[in-house]
Amino acid sequence: MKQLLCLLLTAAVAFTCNAIQPSERKIIRITTDNTELAFEVGPDRRLYQTYFGPRLLSEEDLKNLSWNRPAGAGSTGALEVYSTSGNEDYFEPALGVTHGNGNMTTYLYYEGSSVENIDGGTHTRINMRDDRCPLSVTLNYVVYPKENVIKTWTEISHREKKPVSLFRYASAMLYLNASEYWLTEFSGDWAKEVRMSQEQLRFGKKILDTKLGSRAAMHVSPFFEIGLDGPVREHSGEVLMGTIGWTGNFRFTFEIDNVGNLRVLPGINPYASTYELKAGETFTTPEFIFTLSSEGASQGSRNLQAWARNHSLKDGLGKRMTLLNNWENTGFSFNQESLTGLMKEAKDLGVDMFLLDDGWFGNKYPRSNDRAGLGDWEATRDKLPGGIPALVSAAGEAGVKFGIWIEPEMVNPKSELYEKHPDWVIEQPDRKTYYYRNQLVLDMSNPKVQDHVFSVVDNILRENPGVAYFKWDCNSPITNIYSPYCGERQGQFYIDHVRGIYKVLDRIKEKYPEVPMMLCSGGGARCDYEALKYFTEFWCSDNTDPVERAYIQWGFSQFFPAKAMAAHVTGWNRSTSVKFRTDMASMCKLGFDIGLKELSADELEYCREAVKNWKRLEGAIMDGTQYRLVSPYETNHMAVEYVNTARNSGVVFAYDLSPRFQGKLPVLRLQGLDPAKKYLVREINLMPGRKSSFIQNEKILSGDYLMKVGLDMFSHRHNNSMVVELTAQ
Ligand code: DGJ
Repeated sequence: MKQLLCLLLTAAVAFTCNAIQPSERKIIRITTDNTELAFEVGPDRRLYQTYFGPRLLSEEDLKNLSWNRPAGAGSTGALEVYSTSGNEDYFEPALGVTHGNGNMTTYLYYEGSSVENIDGGTHTRINMRDDRCPLSVTLNYVVYPKENVIKTWTEISHREKKPVSLFRYASAMLYLNASEYWLTEFSGDWAKEVRMSQEQLRFGKKILDTKLGSRAAMHVSPFFEIGLDGPVREHSGEVLMGTIGWTGNFRFTFEIDNVGNLRVLPGINPYASTYELKAGETFTTPEFIFTLSSEGASQGSRNLQAWARNHSLKDGLGKRMTLLNNWENTGFSFNQESLTGLMKEAKDLGVDMFLLDDGWFGNKYPRSNDRAGLGDWEATRDKLPGGIPALVSAAGEAGVKFGIWIEPEMVNPKSELYEKHPDWVIEQPDRKTYYYRNQLVLDMSNPKVQDHVFSVVDNILRENPGVAYFKWDCNSPITNIYSPYCGERQGQFYIDHVRGIYKVLDRIKEKYPEVPMMLCSGGGARCDYEALKYFTEFWCSDNTDPVERAYIQWGFSQFFPAKAMAAHVTGWNRSTSVKFRTDMASMCKLGFDIGLKELSADELEYCREAVKNWKRLEGAIMDGTQYRLVSPYETNHMAVEYVNTARNSGVVFAYDLSPRFQGKLPVLRLQGLDPAKKYLVREINLMPGRKSSFIQNEKILSGDYLMKVGLDMFSHRHNNSMVVELTAQ
């Protein structure tokens, strides 16, 4: 029977194949400067992926690609661009629909496509439609040629009489054809974010997903790398790097099929989220953003970093503020006087802003620990009698900007907000409540809750236009999953909750477009590119031990520019020097969260100097090109280099983590310099009175030499660092 089916299938395919007229062929190219994704409408009017890889030089060659590859028994070999449930492709579908009449099969046929020029690239729309039921799908591909980045998402709508249920709704689908596929994932937990690990994928599925709802990336970050033909390497080899812009439950499915293709399906996690779509409504999936590099992960990261700054990150081309935060220093114990003192210290340190953290609000239930007050966003009168206005003016007098911490999507049950609005909270009506950090998550699917969350920011800014920055925290995952607002439509909740957050963030961005905000989620548990349309930077981790930070910053830098990554000098791992801690934070957006009084005069002087140096090199670190030179995963050292766009200024950060006794030191060859230029090579960030022991210090070396011979910046000392500035002569 099986054989007969197979024969019939092959015959059917052969028949349709013969029916192709070259003149009727419809080929769609999604191309960047270096990458090509090609589709072709088959003779059956379904859309197939014919190629994904380095860009093909000749358009003619596209005609030699076949929509129908040779395949094994029981498979057509055709790779449908957005596969659907219930058809002859027996693998994970991109789209799964239960139609109004209960039928679970969908076939999509090509209807037409269009290309529009947009800022920095092009937007291709491909319209598809089922021939039996009025269900339409639009595939969107936005291409940024210069940065070699593509983002894609899908819109689903229908005109059926009854609502349809969506049980699969991937953002896109990609097929890869290589002899081996190696997945790098970035998993972890609080204070151990983005631990990179690799594994070879074999037949079947590997799923990376999250069900945490709000603090969604606490266990795994929303990005991955796939090494083609071997494990991902830093400077060579082909690698696909992808990330999803969704601040909620996401899922990446990697499936190797019967003929050895790898199918990649990124999307919202459909877990507990069968979505009822009414006629006339459009379900828009999150954006999946990807780049394909044939020069290893390092180049892929540069693609994404440049794209983020140019086209995605909030104020991607703008300046960032250095800061002094008080969380690690004071915790909840502070008052107007002590904060005023810290503002003066911030000024003395040379940073731009003082950032007041958790613990400034709540009167009936003052926030003197994490068990009360969350939700009541009024300054605690006992602690801060002059409220925020007095803090803003104290900062003004000290000569620094003032920023403030909020966690507006959350509530402590011990709060006036909870007493007034118990129905605004995600909580099971008749079960024992589970609390994460003594708090609950507000139901963001509810428009009244959205108004409340918007008002938290709006009230602060209306009353205090001098507030220059927000740190927006989110410490709890969703627990006790029941939305009073969604009622019988609980399948919508996880998705509408995230959309509710975006509605609030849209309103904030519209009314206060200039206000920078840091995205924080008990560390780096929120770090996706949709959220980062509203945030200028994110807090990578509460773990600021510089040794751990080496790995965390290396991990996040795979997908984000240094500009988006906040790093602070703190008291974590006091056994390491203040210099080592500061040098580690200086490779990202620099801040301090430490009692400056606990530093010696030399250490404080060192920090002041480091801030000055960082500001002088901001053009390279924040807006230049990053070269990850030596990996902490492969050696006992780490080195990262930044070069500004004019290639006349750069900086190299070299760290010795835990070198072996007389072990071979890694070769440190620089990258990205102008070979013809001469650079003055000078060690900076030296402790006061310390002379440099760097053997190439103050030498003038050509870019060619620096890239071929390199610098001797590593040593056998543990937890040691060296920072070298490059200045073209
Ligand atoms: C978690 C954040 O990651 C910390 O930086 C700090 O803001 C605390 N929350 C405050 O509760």
